[in-house]
Amino acid sequence: MAFGHGLRDRWPLDPAIVYLNHGTVGAAPHDVLRVQQTLRDRMARQPSQFLLRDVTHALSGLSGGSAVGTATNEPTLVRAAARQVASFVGAASDDVVFVDNATSGVNTVLRAVPLASGDEILTTDQSYGAVMNAMRFVAARRGATVNFVEAPYPRFDADELVERIDRAIGPRTRLLVVDHVTSSTALVLPVAAIAERCRARGVTVLVDGAHAPGAIPLDVPSLGVDYYTGNLHKWTQAPQTAAFLWAAPLRQDGLHPLVISWELGRGFTSEFDMVGTRDLTPWLAAPAGLRFLADLGFADVCRWNHDLAWQAGQLLAARWGTRLEVPESSVGTMIAVPAPSRFAGDAATASRLRDALLFTHGIEVHVYAALGHVWIRVSAQVYNERTDVERLADAVLAL
Ligand SMILES: Cc1ncc(COP(=O)(O)O)c(C=O)c1O
Repeated sequence: MAFGHGLRDRWPLDPAIVYLNHGTVGAAPHDVLRVQQTLRDRMARQPSQFLLRDVTHALSGLSGGSAVGTATNEPTLVRAAARQVASFVGAASDDVVFVDNATSGVNTVLRAVPLASGDEILTTDQSYGAVMNAMRFVAARRGATVNFVEAPYPRFDADELVERIDRAIGPRTRLLVVDHVTSSTALVLPVAAIAERCRARGVTVLVDGAHAPGAIPLDVPSLGVDYYTGNLHKWTQAPQTAAFLWAAPLRQDGLHPLVISWELGRGFTSEFDMVGTRDLTPWLAAPAGLRFLADLGFADVCRWNHDLAWQAGQLLAARWGTRLEVPESSVGTMIAVPAPSRFAGDAATASRLRDALLFTHGIEVHVYAALGHVWIRVSAQVYNERTDVERLADAVLAL
């Protein structure tokens, strides 16, 4: 399979735009959107049949007792889809449920983890801003605190991060929240090694894997964590919005969806599978995204995206005279590179640069300010190739 621009028309993306931003909100291919539309057509034709029988076998609570919806022993469409997602991440199907997005997955777990006054949530300074907000919100309500471990960055060292987290764990640390792939800085973090230290200290671990599924090979149970949430609408090609939440079997009791509905008390998967009337087609179409990846060859996709991201880092840093200090082993499918130093390192400059790249040069890419610099994070996807990165390099120099 030839990757690069030859694949671009497999996505509905605007051909006039150089899209180097796949990671930010994802982009679903035509094949997947067609599957989703077929599901929507089916829903439109017989909404009750689709939503209350085929999709969820809901109504067990509505009927006040035994499940009237369970007219068949066939798995519901939601369960069948969850099974395929579970298999993709190496998990048992009953340990995986759908949520709308990684933010929801994190919030779900934060609501469930017992925290008393004086307890601590530990995380890193690389956590996603919205997730930091969720941690602060939950901690404030319980009289708990959120503490941040500073990651060794921009000269990133994965082993040093493990040591810093280990040293930061205190007697009141109850929960560690850690990214699998950080957002703006795009670092693949050593979550298994971090979890090992946490287990030894009795600290529960939640992994925010927003960017991991479909970007790097993933076997969730082998990480030794308690909870893992990951987006399907970013790198596994599902339509927005689809994500999953995995919980170790011992953690499922007491873990409820953010929206409490009819299935309360009827078991982990039943509760999450039926959260009121809603469009479930993004979840149901998620397996089509997995098939799309399988047809391209998942290992080849990972290799192409990784190699292109790494090469982009080298090329951009060389062209812009800046330094890339992350090791290749901590790079997945995205890379963050400092822009030339003549750009002031503030948010307004970053925002102007992002707009100028899009509106003057037709390039969509993530631009942000941190550590006194403007940074540009490139996402590499199979529809991109080196010439896209060269256009970005030239455009920044021209501005
Ligand atoms: C590390 C991390 N966590 C959470 C999110 C939020 O993802 P979503 O908006 O799909 O919930 C992102 C988004 O990029 C992210 O990078």
